[in-house]
Amino acid sequence: MISPDDLNPRLRKAEYAVRGPIVLRAQELEAAGKKIIYCNIGNPQALRQRPLTFSRQLLSLLEYPTLLEREETARLYPGDVRARATNILSKLPEGLGAYSQSTGVPFIRQAVADFIHRRDDIPVRKEQIILTDGASKGVQAVILALLRQSSDSFLIPIPQYPLYSATLTLQGGGQAGYFLDEENGWQLREELLTESIELSRKNKQNPVCIVVINPGNPTGSVLSRDNISMVIRFAKKHRLAILADEVYQENIYDPGRPFHSFAKVMHELGEAEVPLFSVHSVSKGFLGECGHRGGYLECRNIPEGVMAEFVKLQSIALCSNLPGQISTYAMVAPPVEGEESYPQYLKEKQAILGSLKRKAVLLGEGVNGIDGLSADVPPGAMYAFVRLEIPPYTDPGDSPDREQELKNLEFDYCLKLLEETGICVVPGSGFGQVAGTLHFRTTFLPPEEEMEELVGKLRTFHEGYRRTMKAHELQD
Ligand SMILES: Cc1ncc(COP(=O)(O)O)c(C=O)c1O
Repeated sequence: MISPDDLNPRLRKAEYAVRGPIVLRAQELEAAGKKIIYCNIGNPQALRQRPLTFSRQLLSLLEYPTLLEREETARLYPGDVRARATNILSKLPEGLGAYSQSTGVPFIRQAVADFIHRRDDIPVRKEQIILTDGASKGVQAVILALLRQSSDSFLIPIPQYPLYSATLTLQGGGQAGYFLDEENGWQLREELLTESIELSRKNKQNPVCIVVINPGNPTGSVLSRDNISMVIRFAKKHRLAILADEVYQENIYDPGRPFHSFAKVMHELGEAEVPLFSVHSVSKGFLGECGHRGGYLECRNIPEGVMAEFVKLQSIALCSNLPGQISTYAMVAPPVEGEESYPQYLKEKQAILGSLKRKAVLLGEGVNGIDGLSADVPPGAMYAFVRLEIPPYTDPGDSPDREQELKNLEFDYCLKLLEETGICVVPGSGFGQVAGTLHFRTTFLPPEEEMEELVGKLRTFHEGYRRTMKAHELQD
């Protein structure tokens, strides 16, 4: 029989905390009849967010074009959606069951280019766009392509979304973590970037790329335009490519902190040399179509010969899935004012984003009202990275096993939270954090009434946990 020892050691070493042991325990408890509130992963439709009618109507007509010939379809589907489906089928007569070009269906790539142009008012050509199976595949392609040897390293944020650490482990690349500034809304700080790159070089690594996640996962932060300019200048100075993960660009809740794309800021700075790879996805925003695996990779300041290698890489997997490509099309080319499906589209979009905004406040303010828990009210994304204090255990100390003890405490807290309340969150160690600090990441995706209940349960649990720990301490 094959055993785990027979497998690629890099696979065995890779970790992906958002689906780690706490989640496995949650699934066991659920199978045994316990109600679980899954706050471990940004999977909106798993938490009862409804798909947008427009996307699903379009997809259903394209998956089953016979519907276009049926009389009842005229009653069930708005005229503009039927016209759109007919038009798409005229450009894609083979439908969704055939491979497309490696980089994706040309008119969808053009629609992505038009979307970026509308968003940022900057020049963009469809040749810069590759359609991918979710943003994850775009990220993996960039890491694979830029990694020439195991001494090449990527600067990745701490805390980070574990796609980055896991992919680098799988592909045998170096990780050079840079800390985000918790006291300052999790922005990037140039001194910390410099520290990280210097340390990486000291360790005989060759830094090739900096990864930035904006809006942030797990932090829920939104980067200022100045912060992005600083990163671009830093990348230029150190000859790094930039990998900008912008999957949460529509998840902005504070009008005072708008989203700025790296592409736009780079264009405004007149920067034409720093290679920029940006990813976007149908999984987040207000679509939440995680299961459809759609997204795109936009490449900027990338010469043709390099682009050709990316196209070849994509061709090795033939192409991204077609329903995912259509979902991406529905994201970048939604109904416009005047079209029959527009009012419903707008209503659904506003309801989802409005509810996320209220839940961000509910969670942020709720957490800050609990002694020993703190977080920013998330201005973006779908998460809060909650700081956890359990004195005296989290008071500063210098025992040699302290980091492991704190990690165990954080895990114990998350596990007991799950077992006692059914709330499933992810320990901060899965994302990385400053030594001596404890966190957990939670989403604010559950329905609004459940969010209130969640904050109440969290308070009761946290107070009980602190009391128990205090009693232990007195006994010791
Ligand atoms: C920052 C970030 N990037 C990428 C992804 C992966 O998205 P996709 O479903 O498009 O692969 C996620 C998913 O949670 C994410 O949080």
